[in-house]
Amino acid sequence: MGGKGKAETRWRLPRRLFEGPSYEAASGRLSVEADREKISFRLQVFEATGPHKTVLDLYAGKGYLAWLYAKGCEKLICVEKNPKYFRVLQRNLSEYGGKVALYCMDNLKWLECCLNVEEPITFVDFDAYGTPALQIQRFFAKYPVRRLMVACLTDGLIFNLRRMSNADLRRLYLQDFYLDGLAGKPGEPKSIQELGEYVFRIQSGLLDVLAMRFGFQAYPLYFKVNKRCTASYSAYLLLPKLVGAADFKRYVGLRVAKYGRRISTEEGSGNPS
Ligand SMILES: C[S@@+](CC[C@H](N)C(=O)[O-])C[C@H]1O[C@@H](n2cnc3c(N)ncnc32)[C@H](O)[C@@H]1O
Repeated sequence: MGGKGKAETRWRLPRRLFEGPSYEAASGRLSVEADREKISFRLQVFEATGPHKTVLDLYAGKGYLAWLYAKGCEKLICVEKNPKYFRVLQRNLSEYGGKVALYCMDNLKWLECCLNVEEPITFVDFDAYGTPALQIQRFFAKYPVRRLMVACLTDGLIFNLRRMSNADLRRLYLQDFYLDGLAGKPGEPKSIQELGEYVFRIQSGLLDVLAMRFGFQAYPLYFKVNKRCTASYSAYLLLPKLVGAADFKRYVGLRVAKYGRRISTEEGSGNPS
């Protein structure tokens, strides 16, 4: 993406989208420009898997991402709890009129009261400050994956583990890196840089568990720790669980082997229907 003009940012987002209050996170105020990699990865996946039916943005903020999604979907649902950002969101998405539904409320409440399981969601975005693990769990506990869809995450797991988690998490799961009292100087963790692989495993593990529990499949598409090492950006391709065992040989008319014996396609492979 290029073409930086006076009226646009480097991501071709109109500068007017950035008017209004600055985002605030636990680590302080965030830059007015949306993160380059956050947008790039999300849009690549969005475009590769579109056009989309319903897009659900559970952390819509002022709507930088939502504004980009709005062009490539039939319907956009945005949830934002902060009235200050919500007012800007309303203004920013006003040009998309009827295809947009905006809710100023906590997303957990929205998942409980407003999520319609019949809504054909093909793209769901969890662009959180902090970690959206609870929202992810609540979403999949309620919404059945019936078609191909994508989930994009911004997960502050790293930041939480480094600054805010209780000691048990570190001692029990991350003892290689947090060596309090076991080796090295007690209380002095090793470099956060070395946590990257762990964080991906923790996150994809959560998706795997939810997939098993609620009957779908989840495949990681990308995983990237942001420049400030406070959060990761990632996405998962989701599919319904396939029921029954597929026999690819039989589909193309080949003979299939059963218990070491060659049998004809007429005899069948004993593949359960
Ligand atoms: C990283 S910002 C979102 C940026 C946005 N995706 C964009 O592209 O402009 C996270 C937003 O989520 C909102 N938020 C945090 N917790 C929330 C919750 N429980 N329910 C709804 N919104 C929440 C914050 O107020 C903040 O505006």
